[in-house]
Amino acid sequence: MNTFDYARYDRIRPIRWCGDALELLDQRQLPFASQYLRLTSYTQVADAIHALIVRGAPAIGIAAAWGVVLAAREVSAENGGEALQQLAPAMQQLNDARPTAVNLAWALARMRKAIAGAGADWREKLEAEARLVEDEDLAANRAMGMAGAALIAPGSGVLTHCNTGSLATAGFGTALGVIRAGVAEGRIARVFAGETRPWNQGARLTVWELLQDGIDATLIADAAASHLMSTGKVQWVVVGADRICANGDTANKIGTLQLAIAARHFGVKFMVVAASSTVDMATESGDLIEIEERDAAELLSHRGERSVAEGVSAWNPVFDVTPHALIDAIVTERGVVHKPDAGMMRQLFAQQP
Ligand code: MRU
Repeated sequence: MNTFDYARYDRIRPIRWCGDALELLDQRQLPFASQYLRLTSYTQVADAIHALIVRGAPAIGIAAAWGVVLAAREVSAENGGEALQQLAPAMQQLNDARPTAVNLAWALARMRKAIAGAGADWREKLEAEARLVEDEDLAANRAMGMAGAALIAPGSGVLTHCNTGSLATAGFGTALGVIRAGVAEGRIARVFAGETRPWNQGARLTVWELLQDGIDATLIADAAASHLMSTGKVQWVVVGADRICANGDTANKIGTLQLAIAARHFGVKFMVVAASSTVDMATESGDLIEIEERDAAELLSHRGERSVAEGVSAWNPVFDVTPHALIDAIVTERGVVHKPDAGMMRQLFAQQP
């Protein structure tokens, strides 16, 4: 029986559906202000996803699903077929909000499927599906937390990157779920988090989130990761994912690739934790993934103030791809893929559930 104390180790919820509006915890303002924004239209949801008010692959999928429920209020279809046509522009706008995380397209596909063939009750069907997308994510994270922690030997140190916690999901988190479970079970003795420049998801979100749960975490500069590994203080790098391809290549927050390269050099194991909603068997390999590039201003300024000389330009890709050969384990709610490659991935993901 699972006796994990979720109330103690998982308190934050970034997304709240209120029946007539979507409330999002504004992640741009964390950690110094916890403010929920109330959104009443799908365009506001698409803008919030683009602006990183809500972020993290699973969370943006869930927000988009609720965005479709809001969009449904702006159309007057009599059945699911008509609704699909009328909702197409809204779904496109939500889909285009960010390109790399497959969870966005995955959630929208689920919403489409939920009302294909539906009658006059298509609005209720949409709302029920959005609820399911959110609830299933929480359940998947809890399952992955236990499965990932089981791979970690007692007394280990871990390094994580970006924010993969409750803030990035329906709750509990992916990589951070493994860390929550691993700490609770005494397997993880030391947690390090990289600051994750330029948006500082690690510094602003991850260490704050862990603090809420009473989990000690040590923040490091991204540039300190290889040195940390050379000291022997970490045995696993544990990260999330935005898209996992059919051969196991994995897109995640920029900087993940250099962690994987350093981990292999120092004999540190590398774990990717993601629900099956992040697995994209239609994309063969990582070179086919569209990598989001964001405004250079994220690099050239700090808290809205220019911090780099005028006239300097910058390049700001916000994800990178870790080749499957550098990954020791992909942990999903369907099971663990050890030493992932196309064949190993097929064994778990060839069939849709
Ligand atoms: O740009 P972000 O903050 O949305 O990027 C998030 C990440 O890269 C996470 O590691 C990934 O989405 C997994 S979150 C469970």
